[in-house]
Amino acid sequence: MAPAIQAENLVKTFGDVRALDGVSLDVPEGTVLGLLGPNGAGKTTTVRVLTTLLRPDSGRAVVAGVDVLKHPNQVRSLIGLSGQYAAVDEYLTGFENLTMVGELYQMTHREAKARALELLEWFNLAEAKDRTAKTYSGGMRRRLDLAAALVVRPPVMFLDEPTTGLDPRNRLALWEVIETLVEQGTTLLLTTQYLEEADRLAHDIAVVDHGRVIARGTADQLKAQIGGERIEVVVHEPGLITDALAALSGYALGEPTVEKNTRRITVPISGGARVLADAIRELDSRGIEIDDIGLRRPTLDDVFLTLTGHVAEERPGEEDGDDAGADGRGKGKDGGKGGRGPDKQAVTAGKES
Ligand SMILES: Nc1ncnc2c1ncn2[C@@H]1O[C@H](COP(=O)(O)OP(=O)(O)O)[C@@H](O)[C@H]1O
Ligand SMILES: [Mg+2]
Repeated sequence: MAPAIQAENLVKTFGDVRALDGVSLDVPEGTVLGLLGPNGAGKTTTVRVLTTLLRPDSGRAVVAGVDVLKHPNQVRSLIGLSGQYAAVDEYLTGFENLTMVGELYQMTHREAKARALELLEWFNLAEAKDRTAKTYSGGMRRRLDLAAALVVRPPVMFLDEPTTGLDPRNRLALWEVIETLVEQGTTLLLTTQYLEEADRLAHDIAVVDHGRVIARGTADQLKAQIGGERIEVVVHEPGLITDALAALSGYALGEPTVEKNTRRITVPISGGARVLADAIRELDSRGIEIDDIGLRRPTLDDVFLTLTGHVAEERPGEEDGDDAGADGRGKGKDGGKGGRGPDKQAVTAGKES
């Protein structure tokens, strides 16, 4: 089956800036590709090319079987794009805005209303549905805008950093919406700076930096690529670190890392639980008292740091309080913690040389 989205060697320069330096990617139908990269990597430029908004200097792109450069109008009728086509009218209510979009796309009034109500519910805007959009906070508008992009269920969707600026509750809500869309067969290209978002939503991840795809694979493949598993040991007191390093040296596939203040040693290994059991016996036989020991896989943070040489962007300030309490769901669950482990230092141990 032909991929639903395909880009070959896209190049785009703005003056001296080579925003795209030969981007190639493909997204099989019904799957999610996460385009993961730091600010300025070329994510938005890629999306703009694929959605007909920008002509590349060279390269080729096909979306839903249609050549993007030759038949842009046809492509436009087959795609949805967050934040671009969705023109939120300030003077209409949330409900009216979404109903209008549905009717613009030839839904019956009844279908459009039903879809509007469904989306308002999904995006936690149900209680605000009869307020004009101009009374909405920034975060609420962002959600309305996303909802508008989803009214018609296009076969191919592009979401450019859809959850940037959303609070954890709304981020989770949006993830659920996206998962539902994908279950229903939508092909999705999603850009993000959030590792946990790519980890959760994307079947496949393309890491971009400086206008190029520098790595490609599932989250698991990318993690495996930078060095398998790690054993993490917390020894009981700092004086035991040297002994523990000696005890573990036989299992280490790379340079162990040590966090002195937390007495934590991280050792890249392969062999999983069997090696972990051996290591525990070895530490025990040498009388090295430990507080904690475990096996962990590298996080996408490790991957990102290893591949790009810099950490992922810090999470920007989140919207807050705009509509807290608009419904009964709490903000307790933090969608922002998933991929950001406490173990950045450990990545040096997994670096391939
Ligand atoms: N219209 C433009 N004019 C000049 N430079 C641009 C323009 N759009 C993007 N760039 C530059 O191209 C590079 C890639 O930008 P962009 O695709 O927006 O990155 P990302 O979305 O990954 O943050 C950046 O250096 C950016 O400053
Ligand atoms: Mg961008």
